[in-house]
This record gives sequence, C-alpha cells and structure tokens, in this order.
Amino acid sequence: MNILILGGGGREHALAWAVLQNPKCDRLVVAPGNAGIAEIAECAALDILDGSAVAAFADEESIDFVIIGPEAPLAAGVSDMLTEAGIAVFGPSAAAARLEASKAFTKEICAAVGAPTAAYDRFDDQAAARAGLADRTLPIVVKADGLAAGKGVTVAETRAEAEAALAEIFDGAHGRAEVVIEDFLRGEEASFFCLVDGETVLPIGTAQDHKRVGEGDTGPNTGGMGAYSPAPVMTAAVETRALEEIVRPTMAEMARRGTRMRGVLFVGLMIEDGAPSLVEYNVRFGDPECQCLMMRLGGQALDLMLACAGGRLAEAQVNWAEDHAICVVLAAEGYPGDYAKGTEIRGLDTLPRDSRNMVFHAGTAMRDHRLVAAGGRVLGVTARGDDLMAARDRAYAMVDAIDWPDGICRRDIGWRAL
Ligand code: AMP
Ligand code: GLY
Repeated sequence: MNILILGGGGREHALAWAVLQNPKCDRLVVAPGNAGIAEIAECAALDILDGSAVAAFADEESIDFVIIGPEAPLAAGVSDMLTEAGIAVFGPSAAAARLEASKAFTKEICAAVGAPTAAYDRFDDQAAARAGLADRTLPIVVKADGLAAGKGVTVAETRAEAEAALAEIFDGAHGRAEVVIEDFLRGEEASFFCLVDGETVLPIGTAQDHKRVGEGDTGPNTGGMGAYSPAPVMTAAVETRALEEIVRPTMAEMARRGTRMRGVLFVGLMIEDGAPSLVEYNVRFGDPECQCLMMRLGGQALDLMLACAGGRLAEAQVNWAEDHAICVVLAAEGYPGDYAKGTEIRGLDTLPRDSRNMVFHAGTAMRDHRLVAAGGRVLGVTARGDDLMAARDRAYAMVDAIDWPDGICRRDIGWRAL
C-alpha cells in the first residue's frame, strides 16, 4: 500500500522508520519530512494544514493510508477532510482533537464522568481570573486555553508569577484569551499511550519525558529533551486504574456526545501513591516519546495504526519485546531560546543503524551536500537494550560519536528510572 505521513520532526522520522519495517508498505511519502527522512522515503512539499490540498495530493498519488503526526493539522480538520474524500486516515477528527486543543473542554469531560484531575476554574476575563487566584493555594497552575506548543503553562510558586502569567495570556500571547487555573498536582509524571478506535482502548506503551532543558530538571520548558520507555512508575496496577478511572470513561463520554476519538491518545498522568490523575490529553504521539515507542514496536506499529483507523482494535494485539528504549535529544545551543541555524553536523555516517540503534532527525536540512541544523531540536539519538542502562549506554555512545560542536544535550536522560 501507498502511505503518506504528515510532519517533519523526530516523531515522523520514527514513524516512517517503523512503517518501512512492515512489508505492507510499498511506497512511503512524507510531507514535508526532513533530511533524515529523505534518506529513507520520498519527501513532498505540501501545506499540511490545508485539508483540501492534502486530500488532492493523496488522490493524485494513489495514497491508501495517511498518518498524521502533529496536532496542528488534526485541530485544523485535515483528518475530517481525508475521511470525506474516502481516504483512510490515522488521526482523530477536529471535534475529538479538542481533547488536546482545549484544556477547558477536557476538564469538562473529566468533570462529566468524575475522572480524577486537578480542581480548576475557567475564565475569559482577566479581572475574574485574578479574583480566582485568591481562592487557590500556592503553587497555582495557569494554562492558556488552546494549542500553545507546550508553552502555555506556568506553574506559579508566587501570586506575582501567577498574575504575570495571566497578564501574558490576556495580552494575547497565546492567541485566545481564555485561561484555566488549577491546583498543583504532586507526584511523578508519566505518559501513557493508548490506541482508541471509538470503542476499544488498546494500551501500547508508557514513557517518561524530560521537559526541562537542563540536567536535574532545571531551566525552561522545552518540547522534550529525551524520553525512555517503559516508565517504571506505570505499574500494572496504576495502568489498570488509569484505564478504568480516566481513559475508558472519558472515551465513552466522547462517544456519547457523538465525537468518538479515533487515533492515539497520549495520556499525561501525575501519579501519587499509586493513584493517577489526568494532567492533560494529547491526540497524537509525543515527541520524543514516539521515537522510543516506535523502536520498541517496529513494523507492527503500522498494523496497529491500520486496525485503529479501521475500527478493528478489538482483534488487535501488541507483541512486546521485554526491552527498553531511550531517546536523547541533541538541540541547538540556546534552545528553547534563540539559537543558530546552519551549523554543520558530522559523524552520523560512522554510526550503527539497525533495530537497536537509530538517529532520528528533527530539525535538519542538507545544504551543499552537508548536513546542517535547521531547528531547535535537531537529532533524537535512540537505542534499545535489555535494560534501561544498556539502552542508555548505547545511546550516549552514539551521542559522543557525533561531531556537532554547536549541539547540546542532557546527560541524565533516564535518571528517575536508574
Ligand atoms: P500541559 O501542557 O498541561 O501538559 O502542562 C505542561 C506541564 O506542566 C506538564 O507536563 C506538567 O509538568 C506541568 N503541569 C501541568 N498541570 C499541572 C498540575 N495541575 N500540577 C502539576 N504540574 C502540572
Ligand atoms: N514530549 C511532549 C509532547 O510531545 O507533547
């Protein structure tokens, strides 16, 4: 079959890599892709937020199945347009993507079914929001409602910080001037990934991200500086509670409202004393969590995504290898602030490239036959091992062999589990 993947980050390189392990894939096109993806698949220039352009392209190129990587095309309704055009797609409708696009919507769904999450209030008026701060004890979490590329959340330790976050949101820094104010949840965070076909929920793995740029979880938030899978905090008992108390009731509520979720549900959890609470939902794979999951799933990832899109998850099964994967992100120095583009990266051709060792590209490009950095997060150095230590050692051995003086990485990815 002919497959089109939308996106051009490390997540999409990992998806492309996994899809190509499956003999069902005859032809793979990725739009827009990146320099690493171009080594293994065709790349196409396409406005992936324009649903009619994507549907027309898929039709012209005889694409049988589209996999949507990032959230923006989902929120823009690209999945709906493809479905209308009769093209099979992995990725939820815009109505279901509200689970990610609107924090207030997800809070309301949780409240409707009694799913555990932080107590909250929602405001679209700054004076009322400031008054709302007075009702809460510190720290207070202030969230811009809407897609904010991971940058709309402030965990305020002081009231002044909370007020500054409100001022920024109501000045329009994140587009829509709406805010959710909620209690701070204590505990350990984990990411839980489930495929949902509208009826069946199929867990496909757990991971832990490292959101802060600095070692020891210090410095500003980023898109994610590294991840590993599985996350030991997600024991079988916690997983069962998360499914029974959060995921299944909220997915049933979505179905009851006529907006079934179909695709991958990225469940952001806070776990305290074995009890999970929902921090957020995303309706796509995490980046870099996806790099770890794809490395562990390999070619069956395509079968699972096809079963999900086709409403056949009840018959699907995940065949796990009892192993561990880790992804260390190399970013341009200065990220998540200002950073240079165009610096040359050398040494990748000396590295192993197999089912246990992969360097997934994120922001990379080719210039005059040289590989250069073209974004903030640039490479996702990913390895598998029988245990996390083995996977980590393999990943950092690759990191050390990469010649990129302008790159930075955290040396402590996996510290919680090790
Ligand atoms: P979100 O975009 O909702 O995932 O928030 C980004 C990050 O902020 C999360 O991954 C958490 O680390 C943190 N966070 C969000 N909400 C809370 C909360 N209620 N309590 C503690 N930390 C939170
Ligand atoms: N790594 C977190 C995310 O993809 O949202």
